[in-house]
Amino acid sequence: MAMKKILITGGAGYVGHMLTPQLLDAGYSVVVYDMMWYGNSKMPKDNPSLTLVEGDIRDTAKLAKHFEGVDTVLHLACISNDPSFELDSGLSESINYDCFEPMVIAAKKAGVSRFVYCSSSSVYGVSDAPDVTEDHPLVPLTLYNKFKGLCEPLLWKHRGPGFTCVTIRPATVCGYSTRTRLDLTVNILTNHAVNRGKITVFGGDQRRPNLHIQDMVEAYKLMIEAPAEKIDGETFNIGYQNLKVMEIAEIVRNVVQEQFPNKPPIEIVRTETNDNRSYHINSDKIFRVLGYRPRHTVEDAVRDLCKAFARGDLPNSFDDPLYFNVQNMKTVEVA
Ligand SMILES: NC(=O)c1ccc[n+]([C@@H]2O[C@H](COP(=O)([O-])OP(=O)(O)OC[C@H]3O[C@@H](n4cnc5c(N)ncnc54)[C@H](O)[C@@H]3O)[C@@H](O)[C@H]2O)c1
Repeated sequence: MAMKKILITGGAGYVGHMLTPQLLDAGYSVVVYDMMWYGNSKMPKDNPSLTLVEGDIRDTAKLAKHFEGVDTVLHLACISNDPSFELDSGLSESINYDCFEPMVIAAKKAGVSRFVYCSSSSVYGVSDAPDVTEDHPLVPLTLYNKFKGLCEPLLWKHRGPGFTCVTIRPATVCGYSTRTRLDLTVNILTNHAVNRGKITVFGGDQRRPNLHIQDMVEAYKLMIEAPAEKIDGETFNIGYQNLKVMEIAEIVRNVVQEQFPNKPPIEIVRTETNDNRSYHINSDKIFRVLGYRPRHTVEDAVRDLCKAFARGDLPNSFDDPLYFNVQNMKTVEVA
C-alpha cells in the first residue's frame, strides 16, 4: 500500500517539531512547508520520507506544486500569538488570513482529500458560560483571535465530495519540544521557577485551558486517520485541564521542587492585574465523536521541561529570541 503523504504548513514550529518525527515514525511521508523562522536543524533530515521546503504560504503557486500527491494538509503556519501579530498587523493579516482561501482552493484543485485547519480556543474570547462548547459565539478579543476565527467559514465554502474539511480549536499548548516556546503560560512559569526560583502571578484567578504537546500531536494523528464522515464539516475543541493561573503556578512550584530537591524553595509572588480575562473550554465533543481524550497533564509538561533544563537542552532560556515568538519576529526579515 502506498504511504500516505501529509503536508504540514508551519511544520517546523513548536508543535511541528514534535509532530513531524512522530508522523514519520507512524509510516507517513511528510512535507514540511515553512519559512523556517525558528530553524530546522532538529528536524530528522536524514529520513528519506521527509521533504523540507523553505517557503511562504502566501506564495500559492509554489505551495500548489507541493500539494501534488498529498493526501492530507495540516495547516499550522501562522503568526501565532497576540504580540507577534500586533508587531505588524498588515503582514500578519496577509499570512493568517489573506492567503488562506487561495491555499484551500489550491489544495482542493491538486486533489488533496483532507484539509485540517488549526484554529484556536482563544476565538471564543472571555465567557461566563459554564460550558464553552463549539457552538458558543466567537467574540474575539484580539486581532490574532479574530483572523483565526475568520478563516473557519472560508474553509467550509470549499468543502465537498472528496474534500474533507475539519477545524480544530486547541487550548494553549505546554511542554517540551525540540523547538520549545517559552512564551506560553505553563512554559513561562516553569522557566522562571527553574532558573530564577521565583514565579510572579498577575491576578491568578483567571482560568486557562491547557493541552500537553503530546496530546496535540495525538489529535493531529486522529484527524488524519478518522473516518471522513465523522469529521467532515466539524469543529472540535481540544483541551484538557482548565486551571486558574494560580493553580498552574502551584503545580509548577511543586513539580520543580520535586525535580530539583536541592534548590531553595520556590517563591510565588501574586500581584494585582487589571487583565482578568478568563478562558475555559469544554472538549466533550471530540470524546463523544471520536473517543479522544487527552492523557497528559500539566504536571507531565512541567516535568518534561524540568528534565530538558537539567539535560541542558534549553540553554539561554531568557535571552535566546528563538524561545519567544515576538522577539524572534523582530529579527526576521519578511516582505
Ligand atoms: N502553541 C499553542 O499554544 C497553540 C494553541 C492553539 C492553537 N495553536 C495554533 O497551532 C499552530 C502551531 O502553533 P505553534 O505554537 O507550533 O506555532 P509556531 O509559531 O511555533 O510555528 C508556526 C510556524 O509557522 C511558520 N510560518 C509562519 N508564517 C509562515 C508563512 N508565511 N509561510 C510558511 N510558514 C510560516 C513559522 O516559521 C513557524 O515555524 C498555529 O496555527 C497556532 O495558531 C497553537
